[in-house]
Amino acid sequence: MTAVRPYYAADSASARHYDLITAADRSIDGDIDIYAGLAPAGGSILELGAGTGRVAIPLAERGFAVTGLDIAAPMLAQAEAKRALLPADIAARLRFLRGDLRSLALGQRFDAIIVTFYTLAHLQPSVAWKQAFAGMARHLAPGGVIALHLPDPEKMGGLAPRPDVPVMRRLVEDGSYLTLFVAAQAMNARTGRFNLTLDYVSHAPDGRELKRSRELYSLFHGDPAPYAAQAGLRSRGDAIAIGDTGSIVCFEAAKA
Ligand SMILES: C[S@@+](CC[C@H](N)C(=O)[O-])C[C@H]1O[C@@H](n2cnc3c(N)ncnc32)[C@H](O)[C@@H]1O
Repeated sequence: MTAVRPYYAADSASARHYDLITAADRSIDGDIDIYAGLAPAGGSILELGAGTGRVAIPLAERGFAVTGLDIAAPMLAQAEAKRALLPADIAARLRFLRGDLRSLALGQRFDAIIVTFYTLAHLQPSVAWKQAFAGMARHLAPGGVIALHLPDPEKMGGLAPRPDVPVMRRLVEDGSYLTLFVAAQAMNARTGRFNLTLDYVSHAPDGRELKRSRELYSLFHGDPAPYAAQAGLRSRGDAIAIGDTGSIVCFEAAKA
């Protein structure tokens, strides 16, 4: 049986090729502009699950002071490598930290907290969401905003599993080719868990298979509103539709 790696794990293709794959993903089109509109000019933003810095870095380039927290070392290593190449004034506004969004203790409050591209949905609603919302509320400045990009897994069924038909093929920097296949998908209506089993296959330019990795991508479907209310946050505006499969929902802390 093929071993299945967790997503974003050390030595996973999902972490190594994250930027290449997300660059082709229409479900996050325009998201950075939305997050940039949530904090005052030059304000502070905390991104939970900042990954490779796809969002945190452009926000720092736009003048925000950004803290990006992530649990996965291989994702943070890429973010740090990109930070090291930034002009000094931008790099000084940006820091990446390793940590778990369920146990936030940064000793600081932020004008906005963003949880982008389905990050919260990687965790099962219930205890984990309760801990996440309590932590976000503790780290939000008076009048501050939380934005969560959440998926609607029921709309994600369009990827009919065809292990023989690639859903994506890209040229990698090292000259190899990365091909992505959906090996299986399953939605559990009882738990709200959507599982995608993905095969990442690397080929040499002459077609020789170099490497293959089977990885499990899981998302949970949940309603954030009760968790936000329990943490003392109130709803802010309507959900913002983004891509075909998700939306950004916002909550806010009371003003001082
Ligand atoms: C889909 S990626 C999003 C990366 C980045 N925010 C973006 O929009 O491109 C999800 C990220 O959440 C991180 N993550 C998952 N569970 C986490 C947790 N409990 N605490 C912190 N980060 C977590 C993963 O390591 C991964 O980098």
